[in-house]
Amino acid sequence: PIRRLTVPAIAARKGGDPIVMLTAYTARMAQIFDRHCDMLLVGDSLGQVIYGLDTTVHVTLEMMCAHGAAVVRGSYHAVVVVDLPFGSYEASPQQAFETAARVMKETGAAAVKLEGGAVMAETITFLSQRGIPVVAHIGLTPQAVNALGGYGARGRSEAEYEKILGDARAVDAAGAFAMVVEGVVEPLGRAITAAVKCPTIGIGASPACDGQVLVAEDMLGLFERTPRFVRRFDDLAARINDAAAQYAAAVRDRSFPDADQLYAIKPAVK
Ligand code: KIV
Ligand code: NA
Repeated sequence: PIRRLTVPAIAARKGGDPIVMLTAYTARMAQIFDRHCDMLLVGDSLGQVIYGLDTTVHVTLEMMCAHGAAVVRGSYHAVVVVDLPFGSYEASPQQAFETAARVMKETGAAAVKLEGGAVMAETITFLSQRGIPVVAHIGLTPQAVNALGGYGARGRSEAEYEKILGDARAVDAAGAFAMVVEGVVEPLGRAITAAVKCPTIGIGASPACDGQVLVAEDMLGLFERTPRFVRRFDDLAARINDAAAQYAAAVRDRSFPDADQLYAIKPAVK
């Protein structure tokens, strides 16, 4: 059996072969992506993708644990990272530790991800020194949508550019073993990657990042509206629609089920 990749192996990929990461929320999708990915992210984007919520602010720890466990069960190769949901870690390093430990116990995931830059540095150190590998998430941080006022790219002003570069340095120094850099102007994604010792995983950042991540359902073409940074590698919404239409027609004209799908009475075999 192939041994699962490890957190140190991911950390060692700085400047090397690009790290391939996709989100997964279910065992079956994890099983398929596992062959192609170094890391699987059980993102709190499952709030929108799976649960129809309008932001990730409403996502609960119970949701993250249930889907995290499914993804770990469905995979054997990739490092599985579970997002800590809004409200479950920000208050203190102690709160973050209790939440992250619960996630690791209930899911079997090797690492957690949390949003925030310099303000989360103390928490990142607290967790990393106590056996909980942390992926940081900086730039556009969707859990802060109410404070940011939207999902626009970050780092367009010089002040914001410098602030986010400072965040990157802070979470790197604090001990994050990797960082997701989301929704920043390209030169900033590049500058962060050059400035930090841990691998950067870009989403709407830069091809210079040490890896890339996308929400799987976005790259599969399941949603009509997606951010600029998504490339559609398929148009699954159209294909699923087609399959559903064919099924509906076959039920209505009684061409499904036919002999291939029916159980015949056979003589008992001894
Ligand atoms: O929740 C998520 O899917 C994420 C990725 C977009 C990085 O945090
Ligand atoms: Na997330």
